[in-house]
Amino acid sequence: MEARAGQAVIELLQGDITEQDTEAIVNAANRTLLGGGGVDGAIHRAAGPQLLSECRTLGGCETGDAKITRGYKMKARHVIHTVGPVYHSAGQKAPELLARCYRRSLEVASENNLKSIAFPSISTGAYGYPLREAAPIALKTVADYLNSHEGIQTVRFILFGKEAYEAYEEALKDLLQEKAL
Ligand code: APR
Repeated sequence: MEARAGQAVIELLQGDITEQDTEAIVNAANRTLLGGGGVDGAIHRAAGPQLLSECRTLGGCETGDAKITRGYKMKARHVIHTVGPVYHSAGQKAPELLARCYRRSLEVASENNLKSIAFPSISTGAYGYPLREAAPIALKTVADYLNSHEGIQTVRFILFGKEAYEAYEEALKDLLQEKAL
């Protein structure tokens, strides 16, 4: 499924983010930036050991912030590492912290003059964010950014599995119906 927002297109796809050919892919990392499981583990495996070497130079990353590295062996030239909120400990702050991950990742992409970026569903795995709560926040934040910034042409959400895809598809349809895009 896809929808326009500003000058850009938002695409929903099922698949593996490490195989995407967008200029950047976003990693759902942890604050150490030293790797982990889930999408973090998949990206480090696909990029190779040089990714960890570069991550070691970054001094970690705060929740809601984002830092850029090269993509090494992957098609994507860059990885933008962001750290999502842990749903149960972030409490009331969870929605704003999640939104900040998407906004900061897009700001970093704009700062590097990138035209295409792929996101995983941040925080909805190990960090326990319910998919149906996270999807509308992710899509609205991205759409709002694209409606107020030029440059980025393609934002892809790469959903790992049918349940995640359907949650984002439903959220995108709702936003289109509310004309909130
Ligand atoms: N491509 C796309 N999406 C993926 C992939 C992949 N190869 N592998 C997993 N996912 C999906 C999961 O299904 C989930 O929907 O990414 C989403 C985020 O899940 P996690 O990777 O568990 O990330 P998160 O919930 O943000 O937790 C971050 O987990 O891996 C550790 O180091 C990471 O400590 C950090 C924590």
